[in-house]
Amino acid sequence: MVKKKIIAYERVEKPVLNQLKEKFDVNFFKNVDTKNDKEFLEQLKYTEGIIGLELVVDKHLLDNAPNLKVVSNVSVGYNNLDIDELTKRNIMATNTPDVLTDTVADTVFSLVLATARRIPELDYYVKSRQWKESLTSEYFGVDVHHKTLGIIGMGNIGQSIAQRAHYGFDMDILYHSRTPKPEAEKKYNAQYRSLENLLKESDFVILITPLTPETEGLLGIDEFKLMKRSGIFINGSRGKTIVEKDLIKALKEGHIAAAGLGVFEQEPIEQDNPSLGFANVVTPPHTRSSTFETELKMSELAAEKLISAFEGKKPPTLINPIVWDKR
Ligand code: GLV
Repeated sequence: MVKKKIIAYERVEKPVLNQLKEKFDVNFFKNVDTKNDKEFLEQLKYTEGIIGLELVVDKHLLDNAPNLKVVSNVSVGYNNLDIDELTKRNIMATNTPDVLTDTVADTVFSLVLATARRIPELDYYVKSRQWKESLTSEYFGVDVHHKTLGIIGMGNIGQSIAQRAHYGFDMDILYHSRTPKPEAEKKYNAQYRSLENLLKESDFVILITPLTPETEGLLGIDEFKLMKRSGIFINGSRGKTIVEKDLIKALKEGHIAAAGLGVFEQEPIEQDNPSLGFANVVTPPHTRSSTFETELKMSELAAEKLISAFEGKKPPTLINPIVWDKR
């Protein structure tokens, strides 16, 4: 039997890629640029499935993919997919929620600690051989425990962050989300706030919403100015949920004290991005769920969903279940 053609893009862990190769005719693309875009478009013509990380699946791509039936994202966020276009063309879209919740919560909380306690700066201080006497106040950080944490976006990951903050650090938790979360209120003593009040009252503000038309540019200069001058801002969602140049302005003008940015408008970050010039900005690359264990689980889950769609079984948590229902 002729194997179906699929494209694997950017990140599918090796054991999973090998497993997919047994079932499908797999074309792996690490990225697509001017050197290989012709080959990519050629493969796209015959491809029935796509699995991978952050491939932009828009109208243009879909116009070149007449046989496509499933797109399986190896991430929980799916702002790279034009869901309306996919649905119109009866193409299923899936993502990888749940398996990464705790790992992303760990990542975000590590940014809280690293920023508050200035770990990268102090690491540099020691490695650059400046540590000649006991630490002076110029290098002191601020406490995390017992402070007020504001979480914008109280989905699974937001709640997992709240769990760490409540049980591990005895923090007071405020949250803002589209719908109230009575369970989180009960479990973590979290209190709902308007966006404005959350920004005003929190010592740490964590943004962890998905990127959608409603959340794009959610925080700009007016919002950063509402934060405490001692406030620390952490972005764990997507670069475009904030206005990056406004964050830079807020840092420059001292409207906030520091920031931890796991994500950027342009990734990988441009060499001249002003965020790179601040000692009080902690900037790992988009680390999201990048641990050995969780990357593997995400690849496995994405592959499982792709395979079930081809085997006529409804993939769990389809982003556009209507495509399945009207088959
Ligand atoms: C991480 O950013 C994800 O969407 O999985």
